[in-house]
Amino acid sequence: MTAAPPPDVTRRALLSGSAAALGTAALAQTSSAFAASNASELSLGARAAAKGLLFGASFATHELDKPYGAQYAETYKREARILTSEAELKLYTMRPDALSLDFAPADRLVAFARENGHVLHGHTLIWNDALPDWIKRLGPGEAELLLETHIRTVLERYGAEIPTWDVVNEPIGPWDNLPGGLRGGAFYTALGEDYIARSFRLARKTAPNVRLYLNEAQTESDDENGEVFRKSFLALLHRLKDQSVPVDGVGFECHLDSKRPYDFPRFAAYVEEVAAMGFEIAISELDINDRALPSNPSERDAHVADFYKRFLAAVLPIKAVRRLTLWQIADHTSWMFYDDVAKNPGARRRPRPLPFDERFRKKPAWHAIAAALDDMPAR
Ligand code: XIL
Repeated sequence: MTAAPPPDVTRRALLSGSAAALGTAALAQTSSAFAASNASELSLGARAAAKGLLFGASFATHELDKPYGAQYAETYKREARILTSEAELKLYTMRPDALSLDFAPADRLVAFARENGHVLHGHTLIWNDALPDWIKRLGPGEAELLLETHIRTVLERYGAEIPTWDVVNEPIGPWDNLPGGLRGGAFYTALGEDYIARSFRLARKTAPNVRLYLNEAQTESDDENGEVFRKSFLALLHRLKDQSVPVDGVGFECHLDSKRPYDFPRFAAYVEEVAAMGFEIAISELDINDRALPSNPSERDAHVADFYKRFLAAVLPIKAVRRLTLWQIADHTSWMFYDDVAKNPGARRRPRPLPFDERFRKKPAWHAIAAALDDMPAR
């Protein structure tokens, strides 16, 4: 799909001379002006900022070391205003074993953001998933101590540089059959549901200026799974509010999956319900899993673009949505690529979930997101 020239380019070309002066030479000039303007086309970050929305993507510092590292950096410098740490602040990165504390990847992320003027979002302080084995083996008292030490250590170091944080990630996990549909794991085992309130209270106390988020997955789909997640999550938010737990914001991950059914206006009504409780809202990890879409890449790209279009048309009018973050920026840096092609390099079908392709060229998804940002009401 090719993009139509932005209307202002054509209009400017027309206004710069009389209609009669627009002969062949002038037309040639117009199209080369367009080619140039395409390279400097208004970025997604700038379009969102014009509406009072922070736009960005998760960022992985290890991608800077790849042969395409410079293009990766360039794409983020141009398109993103906010970066979410993809793995740099996770427990398995920072605390690979009981004796180490590795700040190097997070320091590198902070330096990149500072150099390029990006805002940062910290992901994530406490999560019952994605833990190194040594944490899974801790006894309850040790897990409680780790939760407290970790929150203090990380916020004391980065609280001034990183203004918003996922304090707890993905609290819901119905498959664990726990009360409230909560997800089990080391921190839940140690403290029960109270691990959530404890984490938020300690985060507020340690870094009072930081905005504290609760981030959740799988609330989006219009099926039984989505229904269970929405119900359990909403009930948890009400319990936290009743206990005056300092939760400022709620992140909806929005890893959309072409295999699942969706009713985006219905999901948007749910987000409105959460916003009405007084929370600021982030769409925190948006991408489109294209596994059920046609194999033909251009057909698939059109479907993925349409997914973005329909989803964003439903959620961007919600005034409480303050941030829109994609989960990575290019198809080959997506977690879907790492889960799939990187493990099976002979794979003929490569995932195409994001707005840039494997050569950092804009895809139809980029244009769909740009149009959705242009059409949304300002905050
Ligand atoms: C994913 C990363 O993208 C992968 O690189 C990593 O291997 C596993 O985690 N929900 C979250 C994110 O909150 O932290 C996950 O990120 C994707 C699902």
